[in-house]
Amino acid sequence: MSSSVLAGVPRRMLVTSALPYANGPIHIGHLIEYVQTDIWVRAMRMHGHEVYYVCADDTHGTPVMLRAQFEEIKPCQLIQRVWHEHKRDFNYFGISFDNYYSTDSDENRVLSETIFTTLYNRGLIAVRDIEQAYDPIKKMFLPDRFIKGNCPRCGEKDQYGDNCEACGSIYQTTELVKPYSVLSGVTPVNKTSTHYFFKLSDPLCETFLRGWVGQLAQKEATNKMLEWLSEGGDAKLADWDITRDAPYFGFEIPGSPGKYFYVWLDAPVGYYASFKNLCDRHGLNFDEWVRPESTTEQYHFIGKDILYFHTLFWPAMLKFSGYRTPTNVFAHGFLTVEGKKMSKSRGTFISANSYITTGLDPQWLRYYFATKLNSTMGDIDLNFDDFRARVNSDLLGKYVNIASRTATFLVKGFNACVLDSAMNHQLLIQLRTAIPAIATYYESREYGRAVRQVMVLANAVNAYIDEAKPWRQAKDLNHSIALHETCSISLEGFRLLTLALKPVLPKLAESVERFLSIEPLTWADVTVPLSSMRPIRPYQDLMRRIEPQQINKLLLANQ
Ligand code: 2FM
Ligand code: ZN
Repeated sequence: MSSSVLAGVPRRMLVTSALPYANGPIHIGHLIEYVQTDIWVRAMRMHGHEVYYVCADDTHGTPVMLRAQFEEIKPCQLIQRVWHEHKRDFNYFGISFDNYYSTDSDENRVLSETIFTTLYNRGLIAVRDIEQAYDPIKKMFLPDRFIKGNCPRCGEKDQYGDNCEACGSIYQTTELVKPYSVLSGVTPVNKTSTHYFFKLSDPLCETFLRGWVGQLAQKEATNKMLEWLSEGGDAKLADWDITRDAPYFGFEIPGSPGKYFYVWLDAPVGYYASFKNLCDRHGLNFDEWVRPESTTEQYHFIGKDILYFHTLFWPAMLKFSGYRTPTNVFAHGFLTVEGKKMSKSRGTFISANSYITTGLDPQWLRYYFATKLNSTMGDIDLNFDDFRARVNSDLLGKYVNIASRTATFLVKGFNACVLDSAMNHQLLIQLRTAIPAIATYYESREYGRAVRQVMVLANAVNAYIDEAKPWRQAKDLNHSIALHETCSISLEGFRLLTLALKPVLPKLAESVERFLSIEPLTWADVTVPLSSMRPIRPYQDLMRRIEPQQINKLLLANQ
């Protein structure tokens, strides 16, 4: 356990997951991140730390604007609807946000404007004219992904502006042969516009970032960042274009009609806006958390694809606009399904909603993701046979089974009360000794290691039951005390395993707390055994098995 926990000092932590775009549904590729963060946050809360987990919909930008046009509704109608859909999905998967907000909020507008103005006044914003591709029919500038053409290397048609899917080569959008606008089909023309840039090339930024990189927890992230800091020989980071021209859905830049903040400027500020909204509603002091002298901790969980934004732009923006900087950024890898990129045609682009409507248990996926998650940026594979095996054999066969094998004997034969004198059995001491290390694995984001260790302990409890044979003890009246002891030890073991799995399986843990008549479990309860003073309740099924046809149904629903 971390030293501050051992010393009993509660920590104060602001935690975020990346904000999902408001133009599409949540899918399992997103869920890996929310599950990862949620497990961490719950493990931290179980120490008694003061933790706030905030998030929001990322509502601005061209794709949201175009999606609304396509649906013939206003962007604000679209983002409102999607917000409800996202919130529903997150609730279902037990993601315990303290606030789920929107970047299209007053708090975010004020914070984004203040940050921009402060950077401007400090000389960290440059103003430059740039030439960009423009769609003369749609009358708008085209982001790279809205331009297609023939590959300049192999000639393949309909390739995007940065890479060719046929030959794999990488190039500039300007190199595309016969480029056309995805929106209107016409050839884009070049047009000049005045843009604001955040001067990341300023020596102030570089010096700051070279120092800040030292606190990143992940070696791969540090290496990436050092690579970016040294790119281009003279170690100059490129200035960052933070402007988009109308038509755009976003915040207009103060004093610059028709110019908007690029969505990536106000998106991370959305973390603070969501937290500010929470603070205002709950009487918390926002400044205490975000000022440079703050002693609180700030963590951002993200996918490895957006590391650049979170380890260069965001810390530098915060630093030079008078805020504290992140304590750490934790990046995870991508989710593959059956070893391949998620794909709509294979039905593996699985939406959270389809998982809900086909009636699968969200805890299965939480558990499976936990078995695969670690602290690196390596990709994570969802394999359906493995998914079924992990849930059915580990979770049900090894863990839930302990309660179903022993609870009924205790309820029928012993008034549902444990034998207090059995609570210091060697097996239970072994479990209690192992749990602090499991709590540490959660903190270091080694969830796979944590659940593997829990399963080792579950094996030990099952071996104990197999040896004691309660079903045989129950047939022999002379073995009444032995049976009482077996069931008591098994159920206390079950309580300890539940404690160790609680960050991953909060809903199941709640059912177990009810079943065992105990208060909500925290790490400190490792030393508070079941007591004869609180009879347990009759055992009821805690979880179903995964049937193969459920997986088929899920894949079909996504095709
Ligand atoms: O990549 C994405 O999906 C972005 N919507 C993440 C934004 S995270 C943060 F910076 F707001
Ligand atoms: Zn090509």
